[in-house]
Amino acid sequence: MLDIQLCAAAVLGDTLAGANLSTAFEDGFRRHPALSPGERAVVREICYEGLRSLGLLEAQLGKLLLTPVRHTGLRSLLLVGLAQLQFTRAKPYAIVDHAVQAAERLGQPAARGLVNAVLRNFLRRRHDLGRDTWQTPEARLGFPAWWVQKLRDQHPAGWEAVLATENQHPPMTLRVNRRRTTVENYLEMLSQGGIEARCLGDMAVRIDPRPVAEVPGFADGLASVQDAGAQWAARLLEVADGQRVLDACAAPGGKTGHLLEIADLDVVAVDSDSARLHRIRENLLRLGASATLTCADAAVPAAWWDGRPFQRILLDAPCSASGVARRHPDIRWNRRPSDLAKFAARQAALLDGVWQVLESSGKLLYATCSVFREENEAVVEAFISRQPDARIAHFQPGAPEGGRIWPDDDHDGFFYALIEKR
Ligand SMILES: C[S@@+](CC[C@H](N)C(=O)[O-])C[C@H]1O[C@@H](n2cnc3c(N)ncnc32)[C@H](O)[C@@H]1O
Repeated sequence: MLDIQLCAAAVLGDTLAGANLSTAFEDGFRRHPALSPGERAVVREICYEGLRSLGLLEAQLGKLLLTPVRHTGLRSLLLVGLAQLQFTRAKPYAIVDHAVQAAERLGQPAARGLVNAVLRNFLRRRHDLGRDTWQTPEARLGFPAWWVQKLRDQHPAGWEAVLATENQHPPMTLRVNRRRTTVENYLEMLSQGGIEARCLGDMAVRIDPRPVAEVPGFADGLASVQDAGAQWAARLLEVADGQRVLDACAAPGGKTGHLLEIADLDVVAVDSDSARLHRIRENLLRLGASATLTCADAAVPAAWWDGRPFQRILLDAPCSASGVARRHPDIRWNRRPSDLAKFAARQAALLDGVWQVLESSGKLLYATCSVFREENEAVVEAFISRQPDARIAHFQPGAPEGGRIWPDDDHDGFFYALIEKR
């Protein structure tokens, strides 16, 4: 358990210092190579739950300490201990004993008594320190105050449900590749493998989360992992066989693959991140699909465009990812309110850039996985008002109202807008 705690504390510490959670896990596991796969899973569980409940853990720690702890490693270790005591089934005495030893391994032998006192004190006072006893949004709702306030202002009827959803474990949803099988046949394959499944749409199937290597037919391209909300993108773009399509921010290629599954298209997939572009290649190879891959800034077509206009463009723009906060529980703590304006400026530049390569009467689908208006309706409204040849196109019947999918049990949060060139 000692290594689990030290690794979890390192991951938590790095994340709170601004690192991306997946990178922090990679670094943590590299620094603790002796951890078994099962132990790594425990580290992940502690960190995921610890980040979802960070506001509560910090409030509790504040009450349990007489003076703040300055050593960041030690502080993270205390947060990990509190998370373990509340969200894991490990024996409390083992958690406390190992945390005391971990303090020594962090080079803080003088803090052994402090770690022991804080964690034991928590066990004595845990009923007075529970979530319901706190009033701050951070401790009670698990999100920063600015995030809660903004969501409340922008979505008064549903903000509480959205926050509650974003504190849940995310679902695992598959997209059935209709070029290789049918939903009925794939459901039968899952059932033969003893896997319970539920259909969420014409191609989306929800199963209990598991490693992709254990998803039947994954390696053969029969199914891909893709949230049900994300599966709307390819459908809303209204593609038809023979069209030339630009996937402007394509990596890792989830939506590129979907587009190629539903029609015979000439797809150009552009992404500015070469490592992520590589993942598109792997994904398409698995699906048996092909596209032209280009590493470039999509906002500057002069650098990559061959002069042939596109009939359809998907712009799945970089955004705050506030609609997928349950999959990335670090995001809520590392974003700042000022980030939204920065994302909106990049989104506007991307829209202006790719608009130049859209054919007249062609359609562009603007997409984000953000729940905030600043990156969604506001970006599209500003674009329409500065581009005289752009107008909003209606979605097909049955599409999400206003192009909005709010995070719920079965969907991540997405925003879509279809824009037509006159
Ligand atoms: C939301 S992700 C795209 C997800 C992808 N569409 C999918 O479904 O798998 C946004 C992507 O935009 C890329 N990106 C950010 N700025 C870009 C730019 N100026 N030009 C091209 N790609 C960019 C990022 O590298 C990232 O891969």
